[in-house]
Amino acid sequence: MRWPSRLALTALGLLELEAQPVEQIPDDECTESGCALQALQRQGRRVADAQAWNEVMAALVPKIQKMVFEDGQLAVSKEMREAMRGTCLSSKEYVTAQAPFDDFWQCASEDNDNFGASAYCPSRRVAQRLANFTGLDLKVLEKLHLQSGNESAALYGKWCGMPAPPEYEDAYSGPVGNRAFWEDCVMRNSGYFNALKCDTNGSYAVLGIAALNHGVCYPAHRHDNQEAYWQIAGPGWWKTWPESFSDKPNMKPYSEIRVTSANDALRLHNHAGGLIHEMDTTFDDDFLLAVYWWGKPVYTTVNYAYSHGVVEQGSCFASFRREHLDAAHSCPEVARPEWATEGK
Ligand SMILES: *[C@@H]1O[C@H](CO)[C@@H](O)[C@H](O)[C@H]1NC(C)=O
Ligand SMILES: *[C@@H]1O[C@H](CO)[C@@H](O)[C@H](O)[C@H]1NC(C)=O
Ligand SMILES: *[C@@H]1O[C@H](CO)[C@@H](O)[C@H](O)[C@H]1NC(C)=O
Repeated sequence: MRWPSRLALTALGLLELEAQPVEQIPDDECTESGCALQALQRQGRRVADAQAWNEVMAALVPKIQKMVFEDGQLAVSKEMREAMRGTCLSSKEYVTAQAPFDDFWQCASEDNDNFGASAYCPSRRVAQRLANFTGLDLKVLEKLHLQSGNESAALYGKWCGMPAPPEYEDAYSGPVGNRAFWEDCVMRNSGYFNALKCDTNGSYAVLGIAALNHGVCYPAHRHDNQEAYWQIAGPGWWKTWPESFSDKPNMKPYSEIRVTSANDALRLHNHAGGLIHEMDTTFDDDFLLAVYWWGKPVYTTVNYAYSHGVVEQGSCFASFRREHLDAAHSCPEVARPEWATEGK
Protein backbone atom coordinates (compact mmCIF):
# COMPACT_ATOMS: atom_id res chain seq x y z
CA MET A 1 0.00 0.00 0.00
CA ARG A 2 0.97 3.65 -0.27
CA TRP A 3 1.33 5.89 2.74
CA PRO A 4 -1.26 8.68 2.91
CA SER A 5 0.19 11.90 1.55
CA ARG A 6 1.21 14.83 3.72
CA LEU A 7 -1.64 16.79 2.14
CA ALA A 8 -4.21 14.20 3.21
CA LEU A 9 -2.78 14.12 6.73
CA THR A 10 -2.88 17.93 6.90
CA ALA A 11 -6.48 17.86 5.79
CA LEU A 12 -7.18 15.49 8.63
CA GLY A 13 -5.48 17.93 11.02
CA LEU A 14 -2.96 15.29 12.05
CA LEU A 15 0.13 17.34 11.18
CA GLU A 16 -0.98 20.51 12.95
CA LEU A 17 -0.07 19.10 16.35
CA GLU A 18 3.70 19.59 16.22
CA ALA A 19 6.09 22.03 14.59
CA GLN A 20 7.15 20.70 11.20
CA PRO A 21 10.80 20.54 10.13
CA VAL A 22 11.66 22.28 6.83
CA GLU A 23 10.45 19.92 4.18
CA GLN A 24 13.01 18.27 1.94
CA ILE A 25 11.79 17.58 -1.57
CA PRO A 26 12.84 14.04 -2.41
CA ASP A 27 14.53 13.50 -5.77
CA ASP A 28 11.53 11.83 -7.34
CA GLU A 29 9.21 14.75 -6.57
CA CYS A 30 9.28 18.24 -8.02
CA THR A 31 7.82 21.72 -7.69
CA GLU A 32 4.79 22.71 -9.77
CA SER A 33 6.72 24.33 -12.65
CA GLY A 34 9.52 21.76 -12.42
CA CYS A 35 6.95 18.99 -12.79
CA ALA A 36 5.54 20.50 -15.94
CA LEU A 37 9.02 20.86 -17.43
CA GLN A 38 10.00 17.33 -16.48
CA ALA A 39 6.74 15.97 -17.86
CA LEU A 40 7.43 17.75 -21.16
CA GLN A 41 10.99 16.42 -21.25
CA ARG A 42 9.78 12.90 -20.52
CA GLN A 43 7.18 13.20 -23.24
CA GLY A 44 9.77 14.50 -25.72
CA ARG A 45 12.03 11.61 -24.88
CA ARG A 46 9.25 9.07 -25.34
CA VAL A 47 8.49 10.46 -28.80
CA ALA A 48 12.19 10.31 -29.74
CA ASP A 49 12.45 6.78 -28.33
CA ALA A 50 9.39 5.64 -30.31
CA GLN A 51 10.94 7.14 -33.47
CA ALA A 52 14.19 5.22 -32.94
CA TRP A 53 12.26 2.04 -32.15
CA ASN A 54 10.17 2.42 -35.34
CA GLU A 55 13.24 3.09 -37.43
CA VAL A 56 14.92 -0.08 -36.11
CA MET A 57 11.74 -2.16 -36.53
CA ALA A 58 11.14 -0.91 -40.08
CA ALA A 59 14.60 -2.15 -41.09
CA LEU A 60 14.80 -5.27 -38.91
CA VAL A 61 11.35 -6.85 -39.10
CA PRO A 62 11.40 -7.61 -42.88
CA LYS A 63 14.89 -9.16 -42.51
CA ILE A 64 13.70 -11.40 -39.70
CA GLN A 65 10.53 -12.39 -41.58
CA LYS A 66 12.55 -13.26 -44.67
CA MET A 67 14.86 -15.44 -42.63
CA VAL A 68 12.40 -17.40 -40.48
CA PHE A 69 9.24 -17.84 -42.57
CA GLU A 70 8.89 -20.01 -45.66
CA ASP A 71 5.57 -19.66 -47.49
CA GLY A 72 4.25 -17.79 -44.46
CA GLN A 73 5.10 -20.63 -42.04
CA LEU A 74 7.75 -20.68 -39.32
CA ALA A 75 10.57 -22.81 -40.73
CA VAL A 76 11.75 -24.67 -37.62
CA SER A 77 11.99 -28.44 -37.13
CA LYS A 78 8.84 -30.56 -37.54
CA GLU A 79 9.07 -31.68 -33.91
CA MET A 80 9.06 -28.07 -32.73
CA ARG A 81 6.23 -27.02 -35.03
CA GLU A 82 4.13 -29.90 -33.70
CA ALA A 83 4.88 -28.92 -30.12
CA MET A 84 3.26 -25.51 -30.77
CA ARG A 85 -0.24 -27.10 -31.10
CA GLY A 86 -1.05 -25.18 -34.25
CA THR A 87 -0.33 -21.76 -32.70
CA CYS A 88 2.30 -19.10 -33.45
CA LEU A 89 3.37 -20.88 -36.63
CA SER A 90 2.02 -18.47 -39.22
CA SER A 91 3.73 -15.18 -40.10
CA LYS A 92 0.33 -13.47 -39.76
CA GLU A 93 0.31 -14.16 -36.02
CA TYR A 94 3.54 -12.19 -35.45
CA VAL A 95 3.26 -8.43 -35.02
CA THR A 96 5.50 -5.59 -33.97
CA ALA A 97 4.36 -2.31 -32.37
CA GLN A 98 4.57 1.47 -32.91
CA ALA A 99 6.40 1.97 -29.61
CA PRO A 100 8.75 -0.19 -27.50
CA PHE A 101 7.02 -3.32 -26.17
CA ASP A 102 5.96 -3.34 -22.55
CA ASP A 103 8.20 -5.19 -20.12
CA PHE A 104 6.25 -8.47 -20.39
CA TRP A 105 7.05 -8.74 -24.11
CA GLN A 106 10.59 -7.42 -23.88
CA CYS A 107 13.03 -8.20 -21.04
CA ALA A 108 10.49 -9.30 -18.40
CA SER A 109 12.89 -7.42 -16.14
CA GLU A 110 10.42 -7.53 -13.30
CA ASP A 111 11.27 -11.23 -12.94
CA ASN A 112 14.74 -11.34 -14.48
CA ASP A 113 16.31 -8.06 -13.28
CA ASN A 114 18.10 -7.96 -16.64
CA PHE A 115 17.44 -4.39 -17.84
CA GLY A 116 19.12 -1.99 -15.47
CA ALA A 117 22.56 -2.46 -13.99
CA SER A 118 22.66 -5.96 -15.54
CA ALA A 119 21.56 -4.97 -19.04
CA TYR A 120 23.60 -6.28 -21.97
CA CYS A 121 26.11 -3.96 -23.65
CA PRO A 122 26.54 -5.17 -27.22
CA SER A 123 30.18 -4.91 -28.26
CA ARG A 124 31.01 -2.64 -31.15
CA ARG A 125 31.46 -5.66 -33.40
CA VAL A 126 28.01 -7.06 -32.54
CA ALA A 127 26.39 -3.66 -33.11
CA GLN A 128 28.24 -3.20 -36.37
CA ARG A 129 27.16 -6.60 -37.69
CA LEU A 130 23.56 -5.83 -36.75
CA ALA A 131 23.83 -2.45 -38.46
CA ASN A 132 25.12 -4.25 -41.52
CA PHE A 133 22.38 -6.91 -41.38
CA THR A 134 19.63 -4.31 -41.14
CA GLY A 135 21.19 -1.62 -43.30
CA LEU A 136 20.86 0.77 -40.35
CA ASP A 137 23.39 3.32 -39.24
CA LEU A 138 25.09 2.60 -35.90
CA LYS A 139 23.77 5.99 -34.78
CA VAL A 140 20.20 4.61 -34.91
CA LEU A 141 21.08 1.52 -32.88
CA GLU A 142 22.69 3.72 -30.27
CA LYS A 143 19.41 5.64 -29.91
CA LEU A 144 17.37 2.48 -29.32
CA HIS A 145 15.89 2.43 -25.82
CA LEU A 146 13.88 -0.70 -24.95
CA GLN A 147 12.19 1.04 -21.98
CA SER A 148 11.63 -2.37 -20.45
CA GLY A 149 10.84 -1.53 -16.84
CA ASN A 150 13.64 1.08 -16.62
CA GLU A 151 13.81 4.39 -18.52
CA SER A 152 17.30 5.39 -17.33
CA ALA A 153 19.29 7.34 -19.94
CA ALA A 154 22.21 4.98 -19.24
CA LEU A 155 20.29 2.25 -21.09
CA TYR A 156 20.36 3.70 -24.61
CA GLY A 157 21.91 1.15 -26.96
CA LYS A 158 21.67 -1.62 -24.37
CA TRP A 159 19.56 -4.79 -24.65
CA CYS A 160 18.03 -7.24 -22.17
CA GLY A 161 20.68 -9.36 -20.43
CA MET A 162 20.31 -13.13 -20.85
CA PRO A 163 18.16 -14.10 -17.86
CA ALA A 164 19.81 -16.25 -15.21
CA PRO A 165 18.16 -19.57 -14.36
CA PRO A 166 16.86 -19.62 -10.78
CA GLU A 167 19.34 -20.74 -8.14
CA TYR A 168 18.58 -23.75 -6.01
CA GLU A 169 20.06 -26.17 -3.49
CA ASP A 170 20.91 -29.61 -4.86
CA ALA A 171 20.62 -32.37 -2.25
CA TYR A 172 23.90 -33.96 -3.42
CA SER A 173 26.07 -31.27 -4.94
CA GLY A 174 25.06 -28.19 -2.90
CA PRO A 175 24.06 -24.75 -4.23
CA VAL A 176 23.55 -24.47 -7.99
CA GLY A 177 23.95 -21.11 -9.69
CA ASN A 178 25.79 -17.95 -8.80
CA ARG A 179 23.84 -14.79 -9.50
CA ALA A 180 26.73 -12.35 -9.02
CA PHE A 181 28.96 -14.34 -11.34
CA TRP A 182 26.17 -14.68 -13.90
CA GLU A 183 25.47 -10.93 -13.87
CA ASP A 184 29.09 -9.94 -14.38
CA CYS A 185 30.20 -12.61 -16.82
CA VAL A 186 27.07 -13.63 -18.74
CA MET A 187 24.21 -11.09 -18.52
CA ARG A 188 26.18 -7.94 -19.21
CA ASN A 189 27.99 -9.60 -22.11
CA SER A 190 25.16 -11.46 -23.83
CA GLY A 191 21.55 -10.59 -24.44
CA TYR A 192 18.65 -10.02 -26.79
CA PHE A 193 15.71 -7.87 -27.77
CA ASN A 194 12.34 -8.80 -29.26
CA ALA A 195 10.94 -7.33 -32.47
CA LEU A 196 7.84 -9.46 -33.15
CA LYS A 197 5.40 -11.13 -30.80
CA CYS A 198 2.66 -13.73 -31.11
CA ASP A 199 -0.19 -14.10 -28.62
CA THR A 200 -2.56 -16.82 -29.86
CA ASN A 201 -5.01 -18.84 -27.80
CA GLY A 202 -2.85 -19.05 -24.69
CA SER A 203 0.42 -19.70 -26.53
CA TYR A 204 3.01 -16.99 -26.91
CA ALA A 205 6.19 -16.53 -28.88
CA VAL A 206 8.70 -13.85 -29.81
CA LEU A 207 11.17 -13.23 -32.62
CA GLY A 208 14.18 -11.03 -32.08
CA ILE A 209 17.94 -10.60 -32.07
CA ALA A 210 20.31 -12.38 -29.68
CA ALA A 211 24.05 -11.94 -29.30
CA LEU A 212 27.11 -12.91 -27.29
CA ASN A 213 30.13 -10.61 -27.12
CA HIS A 214 33.53 -12.21 -27.36
CA GLY A 215 34.58 -14.21 -24.30
CA VAL A 216 31.22 -15.50 -23.00
CA CYS A 217 30.23 -18.97 -21.87
CA TYR A 218 26.43 -19.09 -21.65
CA PRO A 219 26.44 -22.22 -19.47
CA ALA A 220 24.52 -25.41 -20.28
CA HIS A 221 20.82 -24.95 -19.56
CA ARG A 222 17.41 -26.26 -20.56
CA HIS A 223 13.77 -25.18 -20.77
CA ASP A 224 10.50 -26.73 -21.89
CA ASN A 225 9.60 -24.01 -24.39
CA GLN A 226 10.82 -24.26 -27.98
CA GLU A 227 13.71 -22.16 -29.29
CA ALA A 228 15.56 -21.68 -32.57
CA TYR A 229 18.46 -19.50 -33.76
CA TRP A 230 19.35 -18.40 -37.28
CA GLN A 231 22.94 -17.37 -37.13
CA ILE A 232 24.04 -14.13 -38.77
CA ALA A 233 27.62 -13.88 -37.54
CA GLY A 234 29.96 -16.01 -35.51
CA PRO A 235 31.05 -18.83 -35.81
CA GLY A 236 30.43 -19.54 -32.11
CA TRP A 237 30.65 -22.92 -30.50
CA TRP A 238 27.21 -24.48 -29.96
CA LYS A 239 26.80 -27.60 -27.86
CA THR A 240 23.76 -29.73 -27.15
CA TRP A 241 23.22 -32.80 -25.00
CA PRO A 242 20.27 -35.21 -25.20
CA GLU A 243 17.39 -34.67 -22.79
CA SER A 244 17.96 -38.05 -21.12
CA PHE A 245 21.52 -37.08 -20.29
CA SER A 246 21.01 -36.94 -16.53
CA ASP A 247 19.77 -40.56 -16.51
CA LYS A 248 22.64 -42.06 -18.44
CA PRO A 249 26.01 -40.37 -18.55
CA ASN A 250 26.93 -39.21 -22.01
CA MET A 251 30.28 -40.90 -22.59
CA LYS A 252 30.94 -38.85 -25.68
CA PRO A 253 29.63 -35.37 -24.93
CA TYR A 254 31.55 -33.92 -27.84
CA SER A 255 29.65 -36.11 -30.30
CA GLU A 256 26.78 -33.63 -30.03
CA ILE A 257 28.94 -30.58 -30.41
CA ARG A 258 28.63 -28.46 -33.50
CA VAL A 259 31.00 -25.70 -34.43
CA THR A 260 29.17 -23.55 -36.90
CA SER A 261 29.69 -20.95 -39.46
CA ALA A 262 27.11 -18.47 -40.59
CA ASN A 263 26.63 -20.15 -43.98
CA ASP A 264 23.17 -21.24 -45.06
CA ALA A 265 23.59 -24.97 -44.44
CA LEU A 266 24.65 -24.56 -40.82
CA ARG A 267 22.70 -21.47 -39.98
CA LEU A 268 19.64 -22.87 -38.20
CA HIS A 269 19.94 -24.24 -34.67
CA ASN A 270 16.78 -26.02 -33.46
CA HIS A 271 16.58 -26.35 -29.68
CA ALA A 272 13.49 -28.42 -29.01
CA GLY A 273 11.96 -28.20 -25.53
CA GLY A 274 14.07 -30.17 -23.01
CA LEU A 275 17.28 -30.16 -25.03
CA ILE A 276 20.34 -29.16 -22.99
CA HIS A 277 22.29 -26.52 -24.85
CA GLU A 278 25.11 -24.05 -24.50
CA MET A 279 26.73 -21.21 -26.46
CA ASP A 280 30.38 -20.35 -26.17
CA THR A 281 32.42 -17.47 -27.63
CA THR A 282 35.54 -17.83 -25.50
CA PHE A 283 37.79 -19.17 -28.26
CA ASP A 284 40.01 -16.98 -30.41
CA ASP A 285 38.17 -13.74 -31.12
CA ASP A 286 34.77 -15.38 -31.48
CA PHE A 287 31.35 -13.73 -30.97
CA LEU A 288 27.76 -14.50 -31.99
CA LEU A 289 24.86 -12.66 -33.58
CA ALA A 290 21.60 -14.42 -34.44
CA VAL A 291 17.92 -13.99 -35.14
CA TYR A 292 16.06 -16.06 -32.59
CA TRP A 293 12.62 -17.50 -31.95
CA TRP A 294 11.26 -18.45 -28.54
CA GLY A 295 7.87 -20.15 -28.37
CA LYS A 296 5.80 -21.28 -25.40
CA PRO A 297 2.79 -23.41 -26.32
CA VAL A 298 -0.34 -23.18 -24.18
CA TYR A 299 -0.26 -25.52 -21.13
CA THR A 300 3.56 -25.57 -21.11
CA THR A 301 5.63 -24.13 -18.28
CA VAL A 302 9.10 -22.85 -19.09
CA ASN A 303 11.09 -24.62 -16.34
CA TYR A 304 14.27 -22.71 -17.21
CA ALA A 305 17.13 -24.39 -15.34
CA TYR A 306 20.86 -24.88 -15.16
CA SER A 307 22.02 -28.26 -16.46
CA HIS A 308 24.86 -28.59 -14.00
CA GLY A 309 24.95 -32.35 -14.63
CA VAL A 310 26.86 -31.69 -17.85
CA VAL A 311 29.25 -29.09 -16.45
CA GLU A 312 32.08 -31.60 -16.22
CA GLN A 313 30.97 -33.26 -19.46
CA GLY A 314 32.19 -30.90 -22.12
CA SER A 315 30.44 -27.71 -20.95
CA CYS A 316 32.42 -24.48 -21.19
CA PHE A 317 31.33 -23.56 -17.68
CA ALA A 318 33.78 -25.66 -15.67
CA SER A 319 36.87 -23.95 -17.08
CA PHE A 320 35.19 -20.56 -17.55
CA ARG A 321 34.23 -20.36 -13.89
CA ARG A 322 37.65 -21.54 -12.78
CA GLU A 323 39.37 -18.89 -14.88
CA HIS A 324 37.13 -16.05 -13.71
CA LEU A 325 36.69 -16.91 -10.06
CA ASP A 326 38.88 -14.07 -8.77
CA ALA A 327 37.13 -11.23 -6.94
CA ALA A 328 36.70 -9.13 -10.09
CA HIS A 329 35.79 -12.29 -12.07
CA SER A 330 38.15 -10.81 -14.71
CA CYS A 331 35.13 -10.91 -16.98
CA PRO A 332 35.02 -9.11 -20.28
CA GLU A 333 34.58 -5.33 -20.09
CA VAL A 334 31.26 -4.25 -18.63
CA ALA A 335 31.74 -0.58 -19.44
CA ARG A 336 29.38 1.08 -21.85
CA PRO A 337 30.95 0.67 -25.28
CA GLU A 338 32.26 3.83 -26.92
CA TRP A 339 29.90 3.46 -29.89
CA ALA A 340 26.91 4.11 -27.64
CA THR A 341 26.88 7.69 -26.43
CA GLU A 342 25.92 8.61 -22.90
CA GLY A 343 22.38 9.91 -22.27
CA LYS A 344 20.35 12.04 -24.63
C1 LIG B 1 -7.81 -19.98 -31.67
O1 LIG B 1 -9.08 -20.28 -31.11
C2 LIG B 1 -10.17 -19.99 -31.95
C3 LIG B 1 -11.44 -20.24 -31.16
O2 LIG B 1 -11.41 -21.49 -30.57
C4 LIG B 1 -10.09 -20.81 -33.23
O3 LIG B 1 -11.15 -20.48 -34.10
C5 LIG B 1 -8.76 -20.52 -33.93
O4 LIG B 1 -8.61 -21.36 -35.05
C6 LIG B 1 -7.59 -20.73 -32.99
N1 LIG B 1 -6.37 -20.30 -33.64
C7 LIG B 1 -5.26 -21.05 -33.71
C8 LIG B 1 -4.12 -20.50 -34.49
O5 LIG B 1 -5.16 -22.12 -33.14
C1 LIG C 1 17.82 1.45 -14.04
O1 LIG C 1 18.99 1.39 -14.80
C2 LIG C 1 20.06 2.14 -14.29
C3 LIG C 1 21.18 2.12 -15.33
O2 LIG C 1 21.70 0.85 -15.51
C4 LIG C 1 20.46 1.58 -12.96
O3 LIG C 1 21.53 2.31 -12.41
C5 LIG C 1 19.28 1.61 -12.02
O4 LIG C 1 19.61 0.98 -10.80
C6 LIG C 1 18.09 0.91 -12.64
N1 LIG C 1 16.93 1.08 -11.80
C7 LIG C 1 16.30 0.05 -11.27
C8 LIG C 1 15.10 0.39 -10.44
O5 LIG C 1 16.65 -1.10 -11.46
C1 LIG D 1 28.54 -5.59 -44.53
O1 LIG D 1 27.83 -6.15 -45.61
C2 LIG D 1 28.46 -6.07 -46.85
C3 LIG D 1 27.56 -6.61 -47.93
O2 LIG D 1 26.35 -7.02 -47.46
C4 LIG D 1 29.77 -6.82 -46.79
O3 LIG D 1 30.46 -6.73 -48.02
C5 LIG D 1 30.63 -6.27 -45.68
O4 LIG D 1 31.80 -7.02 -45.52
C6 LIG D 1 29.87 -6.25 -44.36
N1 LIG D 1 30.67 -5.57 -43.35
C7 LIG D 1 30.83 -6.08 -42.13
C8 LIG D 1 31.63 -5.25 -41.18
O5 LIG D 1 30.38 -7.13 -41.78
